[in-house]
Amino acid sequence: MLPPDDDPALQALDALYADRSGGDWWDRFYADRHKPVPFFGSAPDECLVEWVGADLVAPGAALDLGCGNGRNAVYLAQQGFSVDAVDQSATACAWARERCQAAGVNVRLHHVSLWQHPVAPASLDLVIDSGCFHHLPPHRRGPYVQRVAAALKPGGWFSMVCFRPEGGSGLTDEQVLAQHSLGGGLGYTEAQLRSHWGTALQVHTLRPMRPQPAGGALFGQPFLWALLARKQG
Ligand SMILES: C[S@@+](CC[C@H](N)C(=O)[O-])C[C@H]1O[C@@H](n2cnc3c(N)ncnc32)[C@H](O)[C@@H]1O
Repeated sequence: MLPPDDDPALQALDALYADRSGGDWWDRFYADRHKPVPFFGSAPDECLVEWVGADLVAPGAALDLGCGNGRNAVYLAQQGFSVDAVDQSATACAWARERCQAAGVNVRLHHVSLWQHPVAPASLDLVIDSGCFHHLPPHRRGPYVQRVAAALKPGGWFSMVCFRPEGGSGLTDEQVLAQHSLGGGLGYTEAQLRSHWGTALQVHTLRPMRPQPAGGALFGQPFLWALLARKQG
């Protein structure tokens, strides 16, 4: 198993951001399900649907990191994936559990920080992240990339949606450290994403998300990136 990430130095840095990014903060964020938050619907990410629908990413063992209300996890289970989904917010997990029941699908939901979720090395065909990476503080980026890469089988896929520069807070890493806040999430340039992910994984696709109508069958916003990367086989 990939061990829990209990590095005391990293945990000390995590504590700087606990007020603004811990499970309690996200519990409050999810408390009102009727807030006009774009990803509070049930529609899965348009890019994920494209990649699975094109048979690029075939059904297998999948892990959704920061699953929120479970909209992508439900979709993957409906497509025949065996899905684990992790979120640090109990409120989000409860919502996701309801969604799974309503959809009649089986997703193993884990209310836990992704850093504490045990994963067997090289065991996953697909890891997805929709909106989690851009909420990680700078010191967690490298360990996150390593953890995702270690969890994937050779040939396994990583699908991610994260803020483009115009979607994020605009804060630099130095400002984040000084303010102890990511200011609503960090935007990334294409070069930054290729630099962070391109050494551990092979970037297959990196494009802006295709905007989708509100209330439609798919989720997509133009201020978000859609990234698909693969572990070398
Ligand atoms: C922007 S929301 C996106 C939720 C969902 N993926 C979606 O697209 O609907 C980010 C989610 O990541 C979760 N999250 C952030 N950091 C996490 C961590 N260290 N461990 C587990 N979940 C985390 C938050 O609780 C939140 O539900």
